[in-house]
Amino acid sequence: MWSSRWLFILAAAGSAVGLGNIWKFPYVVGESGGGAFVVVYLFCIALVGIPIMMAEVLIGRQGRQSPINTMRALVKEVDGSSGWTLIGWAGVFAGFLILSYYAVIAGWSMYYIVLMAQGLFDGSSPALARSVFSEFQQSPWLMLGWHTAFMVITVAIVARGVTGGIEKAVRWFMPFLVVLLIVLVIHGFISPGFDEAVAFLFAFDFQKITVETLLTALGLSFFTLSLGMGAIMAYGAYVPGSASITSMVVTIAALDTIVAIAAGLAIFPVVFAYGTELTVEAGPSLMFETVPLVFGNIPFGSIFGTLFFVLVSFAAITSAISLTEPGLAFLVEEYNAKRSRVAISLGVFCWVLGIGTVLSFNVWSDIHLVGNLNFFAFLDYVTQNIMLPLGGLFIALFAGFVLPKTIVGSQLGLDEGYKSVLWMILIKFCAPVGVSIVFFVTIFNSIS
Ligand code: PHE
Repeated sequence: MWSSRWLFILAAAGSAVGLGNIWKFPYVVGESGGGAFVVVYLFCIALVGIPIMMAEVLIGRQGRQSPINTMRALVKEVDGSSGWTLIGWAGVFAGFLILSYYAVIAGWSMYYIVLMAQGLFDGSSPALARSVFSEFQQSPWLMLGWHTAFMVITVAIVARGVTGGIEKAVRWFMPFLVVLLIVLVIHGFISPGFDEAVAFLFAFDFQKITVETLLTALGLSFFTLSLGMGAIMAYGAYVPGSASITSMVVTIAALDTIVAIAAGLAIFPVVFAYGTELTVEAGPSLMFETVPLVFGNIPFGSIFGTLFFVLVSFAAITSAISLTEPGLAFLVEEYNAKRSRVAISLGVFCWVLGIGTVLSFNVWSDIHLVGNLNFFAFLDYVTQNIMLPLGGLFIALFAGFVLPKTIVGSQLGLDEGYKSVLWMILIKFCAPVGVSIVFFVTIFNSIS
């Protein structure tokens, strides 16, 4: 059990805030054309993400086991179909797939701790920032080394059990991360590209919304809130019975959104200030070019920069841990296996899979699995755009239609009033219909 509701909030926020916010959000916004995407994304968080996160927490707290066993227990309790337990299994699998590439990117940010500390970017130009990164991308062995380092650290923490160390660490690093992001946002604010960045991020141009935007925004909102794969459900299992799920979930989602927007406000002014030398469509390299460039050109930049990448790596670790938790907790429960052994086996499995992602940036970059997606892009697409939203859809359906009203009502502290009606609208209608529409439109669009 978490020692208090705040520690659950911190742990879940630790899971939610990660590479998705700081690395992925800005570059996906860049690739998807800005404001229109951001507005859709915010809608997805509010109308789909929040209700599904509430559902995950309430299911977890009702079942009080790993997601797979929680689903098994609840299905039995309500006499439902055992097919629902697939939610748990698919989540475990999605967690491993995501971890395999997550560790590679987190390895990049660990490498940048060293580069920043060496002062490599002092007085740097966009050209230098770009060439450092592209050289790194061309070095599979170096990248593999950092991927390995990140995986070893994650496994070492997970093996010891999550609560002790993580709770303490999260308490410190979250506020620090926010402070450093504020430094970057202030830098953005005084840089000449700020107005253009704000216009790019928030100008709502309806015509820019494409089917692809809808699916990407939906997928990213699941990814960034850690939804659809049981991570939050697994954490929910340790939430004290008396805590209010609604207020906790809203807090977590708000924190997560603030960090993502701050990352955007930090990165885009730099892009626009340098005009043609940097591009909004830089893709996965965006953060690794703009952030070193900023820190290379402000006083004490190498110190701030080092700290920044330490914090990003840390944010990645707290997310990585939650990616392993559903699978790990299940194996420990089911086979009474030693936590450390299970952790090592899972780590090795994901590490091997991660090699494919390492190679996707160099040796295998032109090997396309489906369409124009290489190994990394394919895993990223399938997990974010398909597995997580689908997982979330079934979680919503389960909470909305299968779990009896009495259970849900007592978990959420709802009586018969308007709150209960609002909840029903969100979980039975908004969330499932939202996800389904996006799926149908995408499928329809890809066949026609
Ligand atoms: N939410 C994490 C991030 O934004 C990633 C994550 C996805 C973690 C799914 C757990 C489950 O980086």
